[in-house]
Amino acid sequence: MREVFRAYNFQEIRTPIFESTELFARGVGEETDIVAKEMYTWEDGGGSADYELLVAWLSKHSQEITVIQSPPTSTSQRTRLGPGAQIEWQGAWALMRARYAPTHADLLQLQYSGEAWQAMSSGKNPRLVMVTLKGSVSESFPLVAKRMGIEVDELDLPKFNAPQMLTLRPENTAGVVRAYIQNDLQKRGLNKLFYIGPQFRRERPQKGRFRQFYQIGAEAIGPPPSGSESPARDAEILEMLATLLDRLGITDWNLQLNSVGCPNDREKFNEALRQALEPVKDKMCADCQRRAVTNPLRVFDCKVPEDQPIIEKLPRISQFLDEGCRTHFEAVQGILTKVGVPFSLNDRLVRGLDYYTRTAFEFTHGALGAQNAILGGGRYDGLSESLGGPAAPGIGFAIGEDRLVMSLQEKAPAESILRKPDVYIAPMAGMNGDAARLARELRRHDLIVELGDDSFRLKKSFEAATKVGAKYILIVGENEVKADAFALKNLATGEQISVARGDLAMRIRD
Ligand code: HAM
Repeated sequence: MREVFRAYNFQEIRTPIFESTELFARGVGEETDIVAKEMYTWEDGGGSADYELLVAWLSKHSQEITVIQSPPTSTSQRTRLGPGAQIEWQGAWALMRARYAPTHADLLQLQYSGEAWQAMSSGKNPRLVMVTLKGSVSESFPLVAKRMGIEVDELDLPKFNAPQMLTLRPENTAGVVRAYIQNDLQKRGLNKLFYIGPQFRRERPQKGRFRQFYQIGAEAIGPPPSGSESPARDAEILEMLATLLDRLGITDWNLQLNSVGCPNDREKFNEALRQALEPVKDKMCADCQRRAVTNPLRVFDCKVPEDQPIIEKLPRISQFLDEGCRTHFEAVQGILTKVGVPFSLNDRLVRGLDYYTRTAFEFTHGALGAQNAILGGGRYDGLSESLGGPAAPGIGFAIGEDRLVMSLQEKAPAESILRKPDVYIAPMAGMNGDAARLARELRRHDLIVELGDDSFRLKKSFEAATKVGAKYILIVGENEVKADAFALKNLATGEQISVARGDLAMRIRD
């Protein structure tokens, strides 16, 4: 993969494994399955911000209170409920809880704790106090709380270390575009970047679908004058993918191609979809009913068999492309035909992420069953702006590495793909140093060398060499070193010859 990326002048970028939740919510889209239900998201600091509030509150009121029960120390309790304390405050029992930016659910929780406490302490009514950070709740919050019998005390802590919402990256495009904006990569003109790394989605695991999976992806992104918008970029990326798969020996792939238009077309299309869905949506699954209202395009993601006949009859984006999008799409197809990359047009292909514009595509492969998309991608001309950056049209893709490996295994067992050691060096007693010197020399010739140990008897060295699948075994004994010629044995044929040091690399390579 790296060789192919090099030939097309792509360079590696490594973005963080987790980023702020907002990046994905804005980049990938709130209404997508990924953001709505598949992200691993948490508040950083393990509840320490709430704890900081609690300590500040207790010390502020230290003169008036006696602590009856200290806050829980276990982190898991702290993050679930927010730390709290039972206290005697101005002569009354009180139950308090500290929570940065509390929600109504936190109020309910405190109310339940109050009721439980009341039941346990023979009907005594505790005072309930929710301690928060000044400005972290809405104006109506204290009123709602008051109706529930809870006082809200807003602390003003100027040096407060506010927690952040973070998410394990579900995909890499948003991270690359964030890096592009933050590091002003537009000054480099067109950026051609690739990445290889883990992504995380909380999906139901099955064959070819994992919660931590690996993607090999690339993005071509830059300011419009760098040619980043040109159909030549789309075609280059698609032709590179065809080359990649062919070189890996996966030749029976199928390229599904569509244009999802620009925001202009999308608005009209969404409106037409809404209208078409109105009379039929009640017959569809719960997800589609919701999508029909919020984001009708997502109806095309539906996998429920009963909904498919309805979806088949819906209008298609291809009928709504404006002049610019249509010519762009035709130009992409024209280059693909010229370079000989076969494709199928599929105007149901909308992809599961909101940032796509114009060209969208997937490569499928029969070996993968239901999860048959080996890779997917497309153009995202407005993503940078929606993340607060400059105009930066781009196009890219991500290959599911796990699925790629499955396809390869289907074709040929790993045995035949992985390169085995060319030679196993077996040092006789006391010869570890000389053996290491030989290994160093041979590895410089780009040979794969496995190095044994001089405590092994010869029989054990032969067993080890056979086990790792080495082609040759090279014996390094005192006599050999003196003669500067070594016994080299072909493990498959059993043929053994003595080879001068200078000829070893050439001999082994043959
Ligand atoms: P995506 O279609 O969501 O696109 O994912 C790309 C590929 O990742 C899929 O075709 C599939 O092979 C693999 N994949 C996705 N989810 C899983 C999973 N749970 N287990 C195993 N493999 C999985 C993107 O992620 C876009 N960022 C691609 C892109 C780059 N578009 C423009 N630039």
